[in-house]
Amino acid sequence: MSATEPWWKSAVVYQIYPRSFCDMTGNGIGDLEGIRRHLDHLQWLGVDAIWISPFFRSPMKDYGYDVSDYCDVDPLFGTLADFDRLLADAHARGLRVVIDWVPNHTSDRHPWFVASRSSRRSAKRDWYIWRDGTPDRPPNNWKGAFIDGPAWTWDHASGQWYLHFFLPEQPDLNWANPEVVAAMHATLRFWLDRGVDGFRMDVIHGLGKPAGLPDHPPELAAVWRCVVNDEPITHDYVRGIRSVIDEYPDRLMLGEVFLLDTARVAPYYGSGDELQLAFNFPPLFAPWNARAWRRAVDSVVSELDPRDAWPTWVLSNHDQPRHRTRYGTEARARAAAVLLLTLRGTPFLYAGEELGLEDAVVPEVRRLDPGGRDGCRAPIPWDAGATHGWAGDRAWLPWPPEAERRNVETLARERTSILHLYRRLLTARRRSSALRLGAWRPIASPDGVLAYARERAEDRRIVLVNFASSPVDARLEGELTVEAASDGAGEGERFRDRLGPDQAVLLRPAIG
Ligand code: GLC
Repeated sequence: MSATEPWWKSAVVYQIYPRSFCDMTGNGIGDLEGIRRHLDHLQWLGVDAIWISPFFRSPMKDYGYDVSDYCDVDPLFGTLADFDRLLADAHARGLRVVIDWVPNHTSDRHPWFVASRSSRRSAKRDWYIWRDGTPDRPPNNWKGAFIDGPAWTWDHASGQWYLHFFLPEQPDLNWANPEVVAAMHATLRFWLDRGVDGFRMDVIHGLGKPAGLPDHPPELAAVWRCVVNDEPITHDYVRGIRSVIDEYPDRLMLGEVFLLDTARVAPYYGSGDELQLAFNFPPLFAPWNARAWRRAVDSVVSELDPRDAWPTWVLSNHDQPRHRTRYGTEARARAAAVLLLTLRGTPFLYAGEELGLEDAVVPEVRRLDPGGRDGCRAPIPWDAGATHGWAGDRAWLPWPPEAERRNVETLARERTSILHLYRRLLTARRRSSALRLGAWRPIASPDGVLAYARERAEDRRIVLVNFASSPVDARLEGELTVEAASDGAGEGERFRDRLGPDQAVLLRPAIG
């Protein structure tokens, strides 16, 4: 590890969706204690940090992304004492803990919104975004996410509209109000003082709203407001948040910038005074195709390098179908793991991808999420038993396919499993400063193959990813040894200039 580089540059971060990780109480919903009990797995796997999706008090209309108290744990997940215990145990194992922070909106049950809604004269009225009008016509044509309708709800009692980029139960805070800024900064300090290592900041690009809240042009009328909102004033708010983070040593500020264009994500790094890391989703949406991936990587290089901004890579999370499901086969999911863990930047794993999990098939009667995201949120199977290591006999969502085999205990016993592949790749990263921090350089390669070198001082690695479903010859200069192969083939042996279908390899110069 480099002493001069911040920890989050060389870290591999593992996302935990707490409802789905492990239930210790028997109510079918994962909890903080379930995370603590499985720190062994994370340590064995070799990740450096966990990011836990929201576990704060919430009416759960958006499963925790509707917060009613930023400074407490929802009883479904445990207590503040449970959190402190989890944090202490994680730290004792050298694992950092990043938590979610939801600054764009609160729950409609948050006391701030309850007060704001109570009267036009409430001292908190201006903490949210209210507009005059008539009940038949919202103030503008913006669309809310996950709902088939306007980003506005009419409040009968006080006779005004309020803005919500997401559900009506998630009113947007008014960051133009300094009292809101101060109150939200205080919620950060609450957790920083408890010792968390950083925050993943939800919809950070949403904070600033355009003056006058103008209509979308007709061609954008059907597009959710939250995926295009990109206002200069937001950068002031982000810098203000960064100054709070910088009051504490070594903390991470990672933002979810859900703008599907890397050129629009890059400015959120500022000049080293905004986000330290930003999610960049275009690669997640790229198909399993060498050219598409090359384009995605090139735009990261061209947009981020000039700013000295450190990239992030993510293939799965709690909002999108898992990449195993999107790409269709385990062979591709394995090759994708090689790609994800060898590109230049900080990789994010989503719990269960190390098991090669597919999305659960959720029958209509069990569907819960208004955004249709239940499949990727299926519970994590820990063993082959009927309840897969969960305390209750029925988890909140159905199990993912093949849980009797794709569970931690079974795959840990199979040396050839995808789980062991992830573990080998994480070991390889730890051993190579080129993989963790080195430069990235594309290498000429046959059609269908993405090839690159990672280099730092004397340390060097080469990665070849065959996106094609047929074998391909790939001749490289010099003697190279297979350090890891997506299908495990030939590891520790000389590379024989040939890739199997959907196969990826990590190569190192042969010694001697
Ligand atoms: C982010 C979260 C998503 C949530 C939304 C609203 O995109 O990842 O799960 O629904 O914000 O908070």
